[in-house]
Amino acid sequence: MNDQATKLRELINAKKIFDVNKKNQVNINTDQARTICITSGKGGVGKTNFTVNLAIALSKYNLKVVILDADLGLANVDVTLGILSKYNLLDLITNNMSVLDIMTDGPNGIKIISGGSGILELVNLNQHDVNNLISKIEIINDYADVILIDTGAGLSNSVISFALAAEEIIVIATPEPPSITDAYAMIKTIKKRDKNKRIRIVINRADSESEGKIAFNKLKYASERFLNTSIEKLGIMREDPIVSRSIKLQQPLILQYPNSLISKNIECIASKLLNKSSINYEKDRENFFARVVKLFK
Ligand SMILES: Nc1ncnc2c1ncn2[C@@H]1O[C@H](COP(=O)(O)OP(=O)(O)OP(=O)(O)O)[C@@H](O)[C@H]1O
Ligand SMILES: [Mg+2]
Repeated sequence: MNDQATKLRELINAKKIFDVNKKNQVNINTDQARTICITSGKGGVGKTNFTVNLAIALSKYNLKVVILDADLGLANVDVTLGILSKYNLLDLITNNMSVLDIMTDGPNGIKIISGGSGILELVNLNQHDVNNLISKIEIINDYADVILIDTGAGLSNSVISFALAAEEIIVIATPEPPSITDAYAMIKTIKKRDKNKRIRIVINRADSESEGKIAFNKLKYASERFLNTSIEKLGIMREDPIVSRSIKLQQPLILQYPNSLISKNIECIASKLLNKSSINYEKDRENFFARVVKLFK
């Protein structure tokens, strides 16, 4: 226990010192971490690869970034990075662990929390355990500046719950028609539940900038015409064989191939996310995990 308290103090102090000294400082509200959910309609469109590399791009701004692997089925983030998470969210309750103990170290100082089977168990928790879980997870806000949530694909309740609980949503689609129509279905489902939710789009695997733009415009048009809602383009990532190569090597491409076009695409997206107009300073950030659990119940 004492060990945990010391570890926590060290981490919090590290964040404070760093906040003062940062050169590239991005002043974000330090009470609650900014939560960004990365999701998609269709599977296999590049969410996990994007999440991992975006996390590293954001960490270059000296931000403390945590990835929550919220994919129920497969531990994607771990495998992409060649690491092994021993614990998951449920260990907070069943093994009385601290949130700092269930985080695994990733490259460039990023941390990973595996949702694992713990996510499914959220539904079955009694109120006491729910309160316990939320208060334990709350500590993450003292450590993290940004939490990226990598979800599975599709319109399952759990994916929608994570998306709705997060402050911001990034929907990934590729230019292929099924991916566009499934992304549209995802946007429609989210907007039905929360019409003010900010949704931004990344088109991945585009053969050219113009192919990416055309794909985005199709989504934008459908959203405006049929949902009466607007979506924003966050970026376009190009099709590149180095993605597969880096996943096979279990080395993030942004570190392995920093000068590649796709790395630049991701860096551009990171800087756009940190742009002043992109950050919600006004609203009091609600506790993300409390919202997740509420949505799950
Ligand atoms: N820009 C790209 N260029 C080339 N290949 C890509 C690109 N992005 C992703 N891929 C390929 O697509 C595959 C799936 O990527 P990833 O696992 O990140 O998708 P996902 O959306 O997380 O999938 P899931 O829905 O199963 O979680 C990767 O193995 C990679 O080979
Ligand atoms: Mg994935």
